[in-house]
Amino acid sequence: MEKKDLDWGNLSFGYMKTDKRFVANYKQGAWDEGVLTDDDRVIITECAGVLQYAQTCFEGLKAYTTEDGSIVTFRPDLNGQRMENSCRRLEMPVFPCDRFVDAVVKTVRANLAWVPPYGSGATLYIRPYMFGSSAVIGVKPAEEYQFRILVTPVGPYFKGGVKPIVIRVSDFDRAAPRGTGHIKAGLNYAMSLHPIMDAHRQGFAENMYLDPATRSKIEETGGANFIFITRDGTLVTPKSSSILPSITRRSLVYVAEHYLNMKVEEREVPFTELPEFVEVGLCGTAAVISPVGKIVDNGKEICVPSGMADMGPVLRKLYDTLTGIQMGRIEAPEGWITKIA
Ligand code: PLP
Ligand code: COI
Repeated sequence: MEKKDLDWGNLSFGYMKTDKRFVANYKQGAWDEGVLTDDDRVIITECAGVLQYAQTCFEGLKAYTTEDGSIVTFRPDLNGQRMENSCRRLEMPVFPCDRFVDAVVKTVRANLAWVPPYGSGATLYIRPYMFGSSAVIGVKPAEEYQFRILVTPVGPYFKGGVKPIVIRVSDFDRAAPRGTGHIKAGLNYAMSLHPIMDAHRQGFAENMYLDPATRSKIEETGGANFIFITRDGTLVTPKSSSILPSITRRSLVYVAEHYLNMKVEEREVPFTELPEFVEVGLCGTAAVISPVGKIVDNGKEICVPSGMADMGPVLRKLYDTLTGIQMGRIEAPEGWITKIA
């Protein structure tokens, strides 16, 4: 199979129309078989649940070309399970996890020419999503839904690849204490658009959100969880019911404990503890591990000891091990890698 003629090494994190996408429809209480189609357009009523009341959720995962030339994806079952949880919270029908994984595999197989080559630094981003497609005018769930998967080749999420970024503490909250922060609802991201644009206008790459109830504990950013390294080499990561349970973070916790013999603490992280950490990183599918060099809290700077030049040594080890597992250089734990081609 011939690859598309793209400048793989210089892709940004953006959308590009690829050959095929998966589409399944939910009507009269059941999902149809689903098809792969060339048509990238969605045609729905002007009164669709997604348009009126933001009834939509999504997932994000990646396909990788491994060292031996296979194409694989990473823990898609966890994305399928998380999407089931998102759907339940939004009163949407569940697209069953096994069908989710099968549809991911089929969609990537139909777009193999778009999977970036090994060593290019790029990957194929996979975006499953679902939305209420039938008309609602009173506030209630739609009766019909569409589940789709699109794929697009992507480069690094933050400009400059793995160079440390500067972030700020957001004055806005991203989620409510008993709201939807723990699911991947489109509405959470709509909430973050003004804060992120405002952050960019002021020269920051991302927002650090604090817990919405007390604003005294560190939560996450708009698109990634936090990981911190203490002076004695412990991995600390925030535990909260209003952050997204990142699959990358859960995998890094396992990698730290079982591959790198590190101590791990998943717990509440008071904002006042921030100056104690020697390395700070963001982790997620898109972010992979992105090092943070500085956090600005309303003008007060907290400079991370690992500095602005490079990723610190412990995050580097975690990064190399995780990406080594994803790219087939390091043996993966049972069930983590799904072979696609
Ligand atoms: N937190 C938020 C708000 C996100 O959007 C994402 C991205 O999916 C993550 C964390 C990281 O999650 P994952 O590692 O499953 O991609
Ligand atoms: C992901 O990492 O897959 C996400 O969905 C984050 C998003 C902000 C791009």
